Parts: sequence; structure tokens; C-alpha cells
Amino acid sequence: MQQIIDALEARRRAARAGGGPARIATQHEKGKLTARERLEVLLDPGSFEEYGLFVTHRATDFGMAETRVPGDGVVTGWGRIGGRLVYVFSQDFTVFGGSLSETHAEKICKIMDLALQNGAPIIGLNDSGGARIQEGVASLGGYAEVFWRNVQASGAVPQISVIMGPCAGGAVYSPAMTDFTYMVEGTSYMFVTGPDVVRTVTNEIVTHEELGGASTHTRISSVADASFANDIEALLETRRLLDYLPSRAGEKAPRRETTDPATRQEPALDTLVPASPSTPYDMSELIVRLADEEEFLELGKAHAGNILTGFIRLEGETIGVVANQPLVLAGCLDINASRKAARFIRFCDSFEIPILTLVDVPGFLPGVAQEHGGIIKHGAKLLFAYAEASVPKVTLITRKAYGGAYDVMASKHIRADVNYAWPSAEIAVMGAKGAAEILYRSEKGDAEALAQRTAEYEARFANPFIAAERGFIDDVIMPHNTRRRLIGAFSTLRGKIVAGPRKKHGNIPL
Ligand code: COA
Repeated sequence: MQQIIDALEARRRAARAGGGPARIATQHEKGKLTARERLEVLLDPGSFEEYGLFVTHRATDFGMAETRVPGDGVVTGWGRIGGRLVYVFSQDFTVFGGSLSETHAEKICKIMDLALQNGAPIIGLNDSGGARIQEGVASLGGYAEVFWRNVQASGAVPQISVIMGPCAGGAVYSPAMTDFTYMVEGTSYMFVTGPDVVRTVTNEIVTHEELGGASTHTRISSVADASFANDIEALLETRRLLDYLPSRAGEKAPRRETTDPATRQEPALDTLVPASPSTPYDMSELIVRLADEEEFLELGKAHAGNILTGFIRLEGETIGVVANQPLVLAGCLDINASRKAARFIRFCDSFEIPILTLVDVPGFLPGVAQEHGGIIKHGAKLLFAYAEASVPKVTLITRKAYGGAYDVMASKHIRADVNYAWPSAEIAVMGAKGAAEILYRSEKGDAEALAQRTAEYEARFANPFIAAERGFIDDVIMPHNTRRRLIGAFSTLRGKIVAGPRKKHGNIPL
């Protein structure tokens, strides 16, 4: 028996050696951890259980019959994060460049199937040269099997991708369909076609980093939600993100014990909104002051800064926050902001995460580029996502809520449950000056008369009380009591049930 055990140990050791010491050294020289080292950082110590350690590919073309490496370039299995079950795959760049063969795909599919069946998140660590070139269509079929499962899992279990090396060609579409994508700065890139093809087809000369590095995807394309300086930071942040999420649809995210009193007052909020309506202020200060332990996990920070999205906790419960940011484009809604917030709202709605909306919005961003870029359709995404979401929705208007943007930003009319306003709120069709100029066009040249008309409009509409008189605002609250009032509102909504009309699914304007 001892011999048999020794033989098993030897096979295991060989499999765990991946592509061998030289390729592991190259991986380290690039500043990257190996597939197994990454799982050690990601998962609770000692919790990883591997499946498919001995799997090898079945290819024979191009001399592949002689090059079988146990595991076939991907480490798969399950482990725990904060004690909770997760399924993981970690591509091993030291084996065939982490490229995806038919069997490599089968290993990923197996853990995706188990994750769906057992109701646990899927975390993929991507570091791969793409489709295994020697296998041709078998490898492409493998990708498609993964894609299909990504779609089945969407809205059923959280899916997180961490890009920790190359991710090119068809490989990009699996992360693209997961809920959150993190990247590592300097060592990861994603593109459909690489710099060489781009140069041949369009004559554009571009580096890997410029075309699809972390900075490009977090700032410009919004393909990635955040990027981090190195593998360790990215993996620790993935643990932190997972902590806010439930394991599956229909379950609540775990509640975290907090010593932060629900009744904590914040006198500084009484002076957060400046006296002048055109002076900006930092909305993230409000978010941080509201949150348990002042902790805000912001997502999509580098893209569409005019809207903030991310998670906080209130009384230990995960809350998704969407907030206009007056510091950027005066907090206007534009194409990018609408898309960013809509997708975040749909994630929250899929996974029972209540939504807090903080409103200070002067309207939609005017301009030819916005209209020609389809702001009508993109803005409609946000409106649709809010109206469709049936999780608890609480809205607070801090200052401006003008025009159509008032309706869109989780107004009572599209079924927010509790709508509050600070006394500084102005709910109107537009700003007072613009309104006076349109209403009293005949007095256009008369600055004094116009100022008078503006003041009249302001006195009538630049406050929350007309909306409150109609019940569109449930209460006008003191800024320093905001945390207590929001916690109170969300606590009343824990039993919320809404039944929508029968249908297969809606048709969000994509
Ligand atoms: N299929 C099979 N093997 C692959 C592969 C793939 N798609 N991508 C990389 N490899 C292998 C390489 O042959 C090399 O093997 P070796 O160690 O036995 O020599 C190993 O993985 C490492 O690749 P290498 O090119 O040395 O690494 P690099 O860091 O210099 O470059 C890439 C990485 C991804 C840019 C480069 O390997 C590449 O361009 N790969 C092909 C990408 C592609 O076109 N994929 C198919 C379309 S989806």
C-alpha cells in the first residue's frame, strides 16, 4: 500500500509542478504569481480542493501526443472565502501558455456546472494565450461551452473574472459576460484582435498596453471595473468584493456585525451642499459618512466619474449605491454614466441587493456627440433598469433633480419605495434661469426683469416642498440624520414582495 501512496504523491507532485521551474521562473520575473500561488492568496488558507489534477488533453496533431501535462493548463476546484463556498479556475500560463484546449474547457465547465447546481459564486483567474492553436475547432467549441454556461449562470450565481495575463481573441467574451472584471496593472491585457492585426488592417500603431491594458479598460472602454497594482492586491480585493455579495440568486448577502450605531449623526452633512447651486461638492463624502464604518467599495471608479457606483453596508446589510457626482460634468447623466449605472442596478436586482440612490442631477448632458451617440437609447437603459428593479429602492435628493433626469434617478413614479429630500433639494423641470428665459422670452433684453422672473421661479420650485405636497417625496429630512433615516427606510423594506406581469423577459434597449 505504501508504494501505491508514494506513487500517487509522486504523480501529484509532478502535476503541481505545472510547466516546470524554468517557466515558473519566467512567470515570476514578469511579476506574476503562478496559478496555484494565486489560489492560495484568493482562498481561505488550506481550503482549496482541486478537481481534475490528472486531466490531460486528447490532441495528437502537431506532436501534441508527446506533450501531455497533467492538469492541461488550468487549475480548477473549490475553496472558501470568508468561510463561504466558491468555485474557481486559475489558468496556468506555464503550461501551453494557459491556452484553452477541449479538455481545459471541460475542466472549467465542470466547476461552472457545480457552482450553478450548488449555488456558489464562480471566480475565474485568466492568464492565457487563447485558443489552443494545435486543436483548432475543438478548442473553439470549448470556448463556446464556457460562454453558454456564463449566460446560464448570469443572474443565478455571481461571476467574477480577474485578468492576470493575456486574454485575447474569443477568450475575452467569457469575462465580458461575468458580473465583475478586475485587471492587474502592467501585466494583463484584453483585446479581440492584437496590435499586429490592428496594424495590418487599420494601419494604427498601438502597444498591447494602449490597446487593452488595465488603464484602457478601466478608464476608456469600461470593460473592467477596477485595476490593481499587482496580483496580490487584485486577489485580496476580489475577496473583499465577494464579501458584499450573496452566494446565489434568492439569497441575501451575508450580514456583517457592526458596532457603528444606526443613530450616528453627521453634523458635517448639514453644510455639505454649498450655498451656490453651481458650486460642486464631493458626493462620495456623503456616501462614506452614511456607510457602516465609513467603508465604500467603489466600482467603475475610473470611468464615467459623473456617476458613482459601489457597495456600502447599512446595519451590516449590503446596499448598492448609485449617486450623481457633482464634481464631474456637474453630475449630468450622459451615455457612459447611464450604461455604467444601469448595469450595476441590474446586478443588484438579480441578487437581492437593495439600492440607495443619491440624486444631484442637473439633467442629461447636452451635445451633438451625445445625441448622435444614442443618449436616448443609453439613457433609456438606466430608466429601464430602475423601473424593472424590484429590490428595495430608497432615494435621497440632496440638491438638483431636474427634468427627465429627475424621473430616471429612482423617482417615486418609477417605483422607488421611499423617497427623501434634503431641505436644499430643488425639484423642477429645469434650472430657474433657463426656465425664466423660456417662459418670459419677450423680456429677453431686460436683465432686471429676467432676474426678477428667475427669483420668482426659484422661490416657487427651488425646494422639495411642492414634490412633498404631492407625495412624490415622502419626507424632507435633516442632513445630519440621514444615516438613521435611511437605515429606518431599508429596515421597513426587508419583506418587500412585488409581482410583475407574466412574461419571459423584458426587452431592455441595448
Ligand atoms: N496555443 C498553444 N500554445 C500557446 C498559445 C496558444 N494559443 N499561446 C501561447 N502558447 C505557448 C507558446 O507556444 C509557448 O510555449 P513554449 O513555452 O513551449 O515555448 C508558451 O505558451 C508561452 O508563450 P510565449 O509566446 O513564449 O509567451 P509570451 O509571454 O511571449 O507571449 C502571447 C504571450 C499570448 C502574447 C503569445 O503566446 C501569443 O501571441 N499567443 C497566441 C495568441 C493567439 O493568437 N491565440 C489564438 C487566438 S484566441
